Amino acid sequence: MKWVTTHTRMWLTRSFKSFLFTSDYDNQLSFVENQDLGIYVHIPFCKKLCSFCPYCKEIYTEEKAHTYVDYLINEIHMVGSQIKEKKQVTSLYFGGGTPALVADKLEEIISAIEDHFVITEGIGLELHPDNVNEETLLLLKESGVTKISIGIQSFQNKFLSVLGRNEFDLAKISQAINKVPFETMSMDFIFALPGQTIADLKSDIDAAFASGANHIAIYPFIDFTFTDSTLQAMDKKQKRKLLDGITLYCQEKGYVRDSIWTFSNNESAKYSSMTRNNFLGFGCSATTLLKDQFKINTFSVEEYQKRIDAHELPTSLTIRFTQRQRMIYYLFWTAYSTRVNVEDFERFFGVSLKRMYGFEFWLAKNLGLVTENNGVFQMTLKGAFYYHYYENYYTLSYIDQMWGVMRKEAFPENIKF
Ligand SMILES: C[S@@+](CC[C@H](N)C(=O)[O-])C[C@H]1O[C@@H](n2cnc3c(N)ncnc32)[C@H](O)[C@@H]1O
Ligand code: SF4
Repeated sequence: MKWVTTHTRMWLTRSFKSFLFTSDYDNQLSFVENQDLGIYVHIPFCKKLCSFCPYCKEIYTEEKAHTYVDYLINEIHMVGSQIKEKKQVTSLYFGGGTPALVADKLEEIISAIEDHFVITEGIGLELHPDNVNEETLLLLKESGVTKISIGIQSFQNKFLSVLGRNEFDLAKISQAINKVPFETMSMDFIFALPGQTIADLKSDIDAAFASGANHIAIYPFIDFTFTDSTLQAMDKKQKRKLLDGITLYCQEKGYVRDSIWTFSNNESAKYSSMTRNNFLGFGCSATTLLKDQFKINTFSVEEYQKRIDAHELPTSLTIRFTQRQRMIYYLFWTAYSTRVNVEDFERFFGVSLKRMYGFEFWLAKNLGLVTENNGVFQMTLKGAFYYHYYENYYTLSYIDQMWGVMRKEAFPENIKF
């Protein structure tokens, strides 16, 4: 399979050049001209660590979290003060870990961001089911949060137990979100768990919308090699059946697919941190994608703080793109939304998509992976499965390897793919 990815990379980038991530980093980032810029903030604390979870996180204590937030605010000012005038950004997204654990500090973080940026499309934040109560939701709302996402994983106790997660009271969660509603109320689920059937997933989808959610994200279970999880990933055929089953069921119910794994029962309920072409990331492990580079902050909270103390950005690895490499990143990221807009591509790169990748899109159309309508390539059901399959493979070959190294080494010398 390595042979396949190497040749695919060479074909798509029209070059022998690898994707090279090095420890050489910039303290000045060029984002002033970027349109549709998003912001991501990482809060790496959880009350209990789940064995299957690959994200950068550690056990929460109030003291550690508050100290971290002070450093985070410093990082925001270090980057934000590089521009003279306030810059418009689309959305702000708090991920983790469990960002709801710093609900009392959100106002401070958001105000630091608003010193430099104007947020136009709302603020999203992730919660663990244990955080969902009226008091916390009110605090989030008062701080300016407009979209929430709750890590449900499954409503069935047998699957929660497989994942090592505690049971929760759905009635309580439902009551709280109905009393303190948000523009987007999303719930995260995991599919392709051992023994899971399409009937299990349909019942989760129904229960989510019935309890007051207006958006759901159903992620395929990924068996990261560096986690302690002993759960086995499902085989390709069974997974495809489930993914197609979920998609068809949501279509049948009239839900809108706004990205590869997300559906909503209302056009305006959008929630995705994945489909941005440019974003600034703050906090440990946060990634930044700009026109010229993609960078990843260190995974070590301690080293993150040391860098900020030295008035340096906490970047661990940076890739500086060739134009074709950037195009591949663009297409890969945009494809999460299941569509690629020809005009948007041209606006971003100043060159037409057909000129750069006309043959590939022609082939994808003829293979039944996409359809073309009014300048938009839209993934078909088959296309969505193969994208999902490739994304899964990419995650296991690249992200798994990179995160595995970064969890052990705060500043690796380089990583090459
Ligand atoms: C940061 S957590 C969400 C908030 C909170 N920490 C929680 O777990 O409830 C992000 C989501 O990633 C998903 N996730 C974590 N590990 C995964 C894995 N190995 N495979 C697929 N999805 C995973 C889960 O659905 C989880 O809700
Ligand atoms: S799934 Fe959520 S609660 Fe569990 S370790 Fe990951 S971030 Fe923390």
